[in-house]
Amino acid sequence: MAKLVMITGASTGLGEQLAYAFASRQMQLVLIGRNHQRLTQVARRAARLTAAPVAILASDLLNDQGKTVWHQCVARCGLPDILVNNAALPGFGAVNDLTSQQTQRIIQLNTLVPLTLSQLFIQAHYRDVRPSYLINLASAGAELALPYAGFHAASKAALLGFAQGTAFELQRTQINLMTVLPSLLATGHFQQQTQPYLKPQLAYLLSKTQLAPEKVAKKIVTRALQGQRLLRLPVFYQWLAPIIHLAPNLSRKVIAVAYRTR
Ligand SMILES: NC(=O)c1ccc[n+]([C@@H]2O[C@H](COP(=O)([O-])OP(=O)(O)OC[C@H]3O[C@@H](n4cnc5c(N)ncnc54)[C@H](OP(=O)(O)O)[C@@H]3O)[C@@H](O)[C@H]2O)c1
Repeated sequence: MAKLVMITGASTGLGEQLAYAFASRQMQLVLIGRNHQRLTQVARRAARLTAAPVAILASDLLNDQGKTVWHQCVARCGLPDILVNNAALPGFGAVNDLTSQQTQRIIQLNTLVPLTLSQLFIQAHYRDVRPSYLINLASAGAELALPYAGFHAASKAALLGFAQGTAFELQRTQINLMTVLPSLLATGHFQQQTQPYLKPQLAYLLSKTQLAPEKVAKKIVTRALQGQRLLRLPVFYQWLAPIIHLAPNLSRKVIAVAYRTR
């Protein structure tokens, strides 16, 4: 029987590409997002790639941290074998400028929703003898906090902490938790969210480092199904991460060169 995959934030960006990548592996999908029209389009395209059913659940995850969506998914399609916590807000902006309403939404969608859904998933699969897969989209910013991204960094670092904190409990289960730490993705946020804070000449250079979401999605699916625990992207960042851990202050100073002071 085809594995059932639940993907949050599947109406666009990386989530959309993850839907196609899982569909290409003949999996059954439940796609979550608020935009019904976009979800329907993605579901139609995904249905051309898989013989298994593709369902959509148009819902705002902020309503109750995703609990209703989870129960609807289980009632309509069954217990997901794979959960991808992908939906998030960029969460960039100077602490002094963001309103408390904005920051609440960032922490709720980026942290509380994936942690709530992760707990529901783990509780449901805890005693399973068949493998299941939980994929949490964090960010390179969880390890290397960028300027003007305090709430982004805080919201994503929590997912890394969750993975480290649950590793001991999960090692005696068949649940495979993978946390993904990508750097910039070409999903349209760079120009709006990051560029305004960068020095113009470096903004151009950084814009060229954006990763193609379709390639990232394929890699995530492959590595998750292999049981990998942590995925840093691109490969270059896998080499950079140990240096960041060894010399965090120096790393922050080097990164800060690219940013304007306000
Ligand atoms: N973009 C980057 O450079 C980058 C870098 C590192 C990590 N990441 C992480 O990678 C993941 C995907 O990023 P992305 O750039 O592809 O994001 P994106 O293009 O902004 O897509 C976000 C998705 O989340 C959904 N969403 C937003 N608010 C929602 C809500 N209240 N309820 C339900 N769904 C909601 C959106 O759908 P609706 O509008 O239909 O609700 C959309 O499908 C995120 O976790 C992000 O933090 C991104």
